Order: sequence, then C-alpha cells, then structure tokens
Amino acid sequence: MSENPFEHNLLTHKLCKIADHDELPQGKTQVAAVNGREVLLCHTAEGYFAVDNLCSHAAARLCDGKLKGHRVLCPMHGGSFDVRDGVALSRPATAPIRTYQLLVNEQGIFVSLPDEAT
Ligand code: FES
Repeated sequence: MSENPFEHNLLTHKLCKIADHDELPQGKTQVAAVNGREVLLCHTAEGYFAVDNLCSHAAARLCDGKLKGHRVLCPMHGGSFDVRDGVALSRPATAPIRTYQLLVNEQGIFVSLPDEAT
C-alpha cells in the first residue's frame, strides 16, 4: 500500500492551490473559494487543516468566528468544531462539518477536492 495518502485519490480528486505556505500566520484562518465552494484554511500549532466554511447548525460562515487551538468557533450561536476531523464539539452544533485533505510543500498549500466538485 502507498504511503502517500494522495496517491489513491489521484483519479477521483483534484489538487487546487489555496495559499502560499508562508502566507497564513499560526492561529489564523483564511477563506479560499474553490470550485464553487468556500474552504476555510486553519493554521494551528499542529499544522494546517481545511474545513467547509459553513457551520452545520444554521449555515453561518465560520470565517467570521475565531480559531482557538484546533477548535473553530461559530460566530452565530457559539457552536464549535474540531478542525482536524470536523467533529462538533459544542452545542447547538451537533453535526460534523466536512474536512479536506491538504498537501503542503514549497509550492504552497493545496486542497484535495473530489472531481464531482469541478
Ligand atoms: S449557526 Fe453555527 S452554532 Fe448556530
């Protein structure tokens, strides 16, 4: 089996550059519009993570909230999500948000999106 997590996705996913690797300071987030969706790039002490920029509770944009450690807080009702796996951590949010695989190298930060989104 391949050690590269992207290798098995090459036929069904597409990599899209969303930032330069030194563009986003740690503790900050940045929105990238990619193929009709908004992806929220989060730079934590554990590295970069990407999630949908949409709260699963009532569709607030998470970019208007705060990133605290690996937790993103929704600006509307205070729900929160773990940006590492999308799990809802506090009510009223209960459903997870979508996460995306990232590839980070000297050329930049790339998000892996399913080809259906293109
Ligand atoms: S819209 Fe995000 S917690 Fe309600």
